[in-house]
Amino acid sequence: MCGIIGYTGKLAAAPVLIEGLKRLEYRGYDSAGLAVVADEHMYQVKSVGKVAQLEAVAGQQPELKKLAGCGIAHTRWATHGAPSTLNAHPHLDESGRFAVVHNGIIENYQELRKHLESKGVHFRSQTDSEVIPHLIAGAYEGDLLSAVAAALKQLDGTYGIAVVSSLEPGGVVTARKGSPIVIGLGEGENLVASDIAALLPYTRQVIYLNDGDIAAITADKVDLRNIQNVPVEREVAKIDWDAGQAEKGNYPHFMLKEIFEQPETIENAIRGRIDHEMGTAILNGMNLSPRELALINRIVIAGCGSSMHAGMLGEYYFEDIAGISTSVEQAAEFRYRNPIIEPNTLVIPISQSGETADTIAAVREATAKGAVVTALCNVVGSTIARESGRGVYLHAGPEISVASTKAFSSQVVVLLLFALLLGRNRRLSRSEGNELADQIEQIPELIRSVLLQAPEIKKIAERYADKEDFFYIGRGCLYPTALEGALKLKEISYIHAEGYHAAELKHGPISLLDERHPVLALANDIPGKDKIIGNIQECRARKAPVVAVITRGDSAVRSMTQDVIEVPPCSRFIAPLPTTVALQLFAYYVAVARGCEVDQPRNLAKSVTVE
Ligand code: BG6
Repeated sequence: MCGIIGYTGKLAAAPVLIEGLKRLEYRGYDSAGLAVVADEHMYQVKSVGKVAQLEAVAGQQPELKKLAGCGIAHTRWATHGAPSTLNAHPHLDESGRFAVVHNGIIENYQELRKHLESKGVHFRSQTDSEVIPHLIAGAYEGDLLSAVAAALKQLDGTYGIAVVSSLEPGGVVTARKGSPIVIGLGEGENLVASDIAALLPYTRQVIYLNDGDIAAITADKVDLRNIQNVPVEREVAKIDWDAGQAEKGNYPHFMLKEIFEQPETIENAIRGRIDHEMGTAILNGMNLSPRELALINRIVIAGCGSSMHAGMLGEYYFEDIAGISTSVEQAAEFRYRNPIIEPNTLVIPISQSGETADTIAAVREATAKGAVVTALCNVVGSTIARESGRGVYLHAGPEISVASTKAFSSQVVVLLLFALLLGRNRRLSRSEGNELADQIEQIPELIRSVLLQAPEIKKIAERYADKEDFFYIGRGCLYPTALEGALKLKEISYIHAEGYHAAELKHGPISLLDERHPVLALANDIPGKDKIIGNIQECRARKAPVVAVITRGDSAVRSMTQDVIEVPPCSRFIAPLPTTVALQLFAYYVAVARGCEVDQPRNLAKSVTVE
């Protein structure tokens, strides 16, 4: 949702904060603000729009560029109160001595607001967050950490916050409950942020806060406690990403860079995880013995957005390769519908960020019901990774673009490896296991050959950039692939694209088809192709233009469609990966042709940390 950062050290705080916000902008970008404390004075700047707008407004206060000290900043994804300068963070108390940036939702804010207003407090904004500085001011008796703790105890809801006060120059207080907070340990400086991307230029030594943690940070000290003011110990983790990885390089967009990174990121996801000796996969983070694996009699996968689509491919893999009954849940539904979980049910939460609130809640529901929980995450040390206690990291590196690409393909590859492990644990022979392992190891090469098609895919995409509706159809493993392809186009080009199982068209959606309504058909040369050919003819009979993804050299479909995108031949389990990359490129080039903000699509955010 929102991105927050705090800094205390010898550097001028405002430039550090603004650079940090730029690295957090994918979390929310409708307004931004910062507050710096120097010489016991509070300086505040806020603006509507992107961080660049804030930088411009801050530029009109040249002294800000030089003021060393401490400060906090925020880039917003509005929940309460429309994007405006008044609703932008930081929020200050009436005296202007306490400033707060908040990521999360305060559920009892109206009650608190009424109570504070009855005591004569005047509010400036419509936000839930503004209650916090007023509560801190009311509780302050000379120690900022205690005042913040007292304020937080009155809140219901979620928060990741950072607080500064002109009464305590050089100090930043931070706390978390439900929204991510990471402390960055520097040389003569310390930072706090919503995620590590903003910390990388300064340090790779970090401390992840747990729910209920609070900390007072100065340039050379971190005083970590729980909300009951009892000191707590937290592990200092070393980050293996570098700042460069979180930068665009020579690509016009992070999304295109991340699409082209997939051969390497998939090699990272596979590296050290295939044992050809045994014809199986090695997933150390699982901590499940072969005996425990053999006891699993049902799998439930939970996730949101692209992660849920990856889960749907996992369902095919676990049932077909390992013979285990599997279902996929939209995480928000899983948490509320009281699911049946037995002791030998394995629950797999999938989340790139590891911070999606609905998926976190699904982990807690599954854990409470005694399931074996093992997560697939990309962000090391994220909430889902830590609360699941076991799982597999994707090693895809930072994914900055809001629309998921490389994380999705790595999720699918890890699910294939997991299905291989469970398959060998049950009914696959060593040679069958090795056959699948060989196919998995060929995926990076298959994707390299699709990436070479980018110029052709660009030409086709530009021919469809003026369309307002699009259907994606597929069968078998290509059905979730169609859903993911449609989601990509929706996310970044704002075209109303819908993915359907091809057999579903006749039961309604086909009524929408005409010459203005194109269809993208996944007609790879795998089982089900003959049926898709029938569906393509149904669409053509309604004059709908058809773009088909076909297997290179397969002429069967070419004559029936306006445009074809070729992918290399591969098995039905592997086909979703090269096909997805082709669909990612198609969506990317359509969005660019429509002049859309590819990396930061309107109304979206990289991880939805509130319900
Ligand atoms: C959305 C992102 O907010 O959350 C999508 O824009 C993503 O790209 C979805 O697929 C789920 O996020 P995560 O981090 O739980 O995989």
